[in-house]
Amino acid sequence: MEMNELKINERKTVLITGASSGIGLAVSRTLADNGFEVYGFGRNFDDEASSGPENFHCVICDITDTDALEKCVNEIRKLHHIDVLINNAGCAYYGLHEELNASKIKDIVRTDLETPLILTQMLLRDMKANGGSIINISSVTAISHANPHGAAYGAAKAGLLSFSGSVFEEARKHGVKVTAILPDMTDTDLYRNADFEADDEKGASLLPRDVADAVLFVLSRPYGVVVEELVIRPQFHRIKRKNKQ
Ligand SMILES: NC(=O)c1ccc[n+]([C@@H]2O[C@H](COP(=O)([O-])OP(=O)(O)OC[C@H]3O[C@@H](n4cnc5c(N)ncnc54)[C@H](OP(=O)(O)O)[C@@H]3O)[C@@H](O)[C@H]2O)c1
Repeated sequence: MEMNELKINERKTVLITGASSGIGLAVSRTLADNGFEVYGFGRNFDDEASSGPENFHCVICDITDTDALEKCVNEIRKLHHIDVLINNAGCAYYGLHEELNASKIKDIVRTDLETPLILTQMLLRDMKANGGSIINISSVTAISHANPHGAAYGAAKAGLLSFSGSVFEEARKHGVKVTAILPDMTDTDLYRNADFEADDEKGASLLPRDVADAVLFVLSRPYGVVVEELVIRPQFHRIKRKNKQ
């Protein structure tokens, strides 16, 4: 594990996956700016992503490597109670399902569904003891009846939504808050493998900071109030085909 300086202090501690870009980077920055101690997991932090304030710690880890993940989590645990878990990392491939392959399907399911289940299991006893919060970044695809050209991704996100509700029912009596956030199209690199992207027009996609604001809203609800699901949509529904190179 490589981390920048670790310090023990009284701030609330957040473990967030997928902190090196897009939504996860925006959430990490927002929470660090608001006084949380943030441990952000990712595989590739560029200079911009790793140059956060002193309370933002980059943890270089492939979260689908369960042994490496557990080792990193245990090192953080030696220093802090983890108060907030944000399952944000994601991977997406689009196209006709017959055009995917087994490796891409496994990547989606392992990153977007399997790892959040494993990471939550690792931390749930601690969260019950301390009244922690879990936020799962699902997607509006989870509540679409069908996701043609995104069948595997939609299935993984629907699984995460279902899991989120189940864990809330299991853990709510212990004071654990569990939230699923379901963003619509957000301007990030997630669509790098797609042949479409959001239209350039303002309001045709969310910005990562819009989702970060939602996370801060969820975490700032008072004792006894839980936001179970939050759907966030851009004003307009407009996508365009990418220019072929
Ligand atoms: N963009 C949208 O329109 C949209 C809409 C709804 C929901 N979401 C969800 O929002 C979440 C964030 O996605 P994004 O839009 O911000 O896309 P993004 O910019 O591509 O970010 C994905 C993040 O996941 C991390 N990640 C992926 N596989 C990983 C692995 N094996 N180990 C460690 N980290 C891994 C990436 O880090 P490394 O590459 O450094 O490993 C990156 O930080 C995802 O769950 C996505 O499904 C996005």
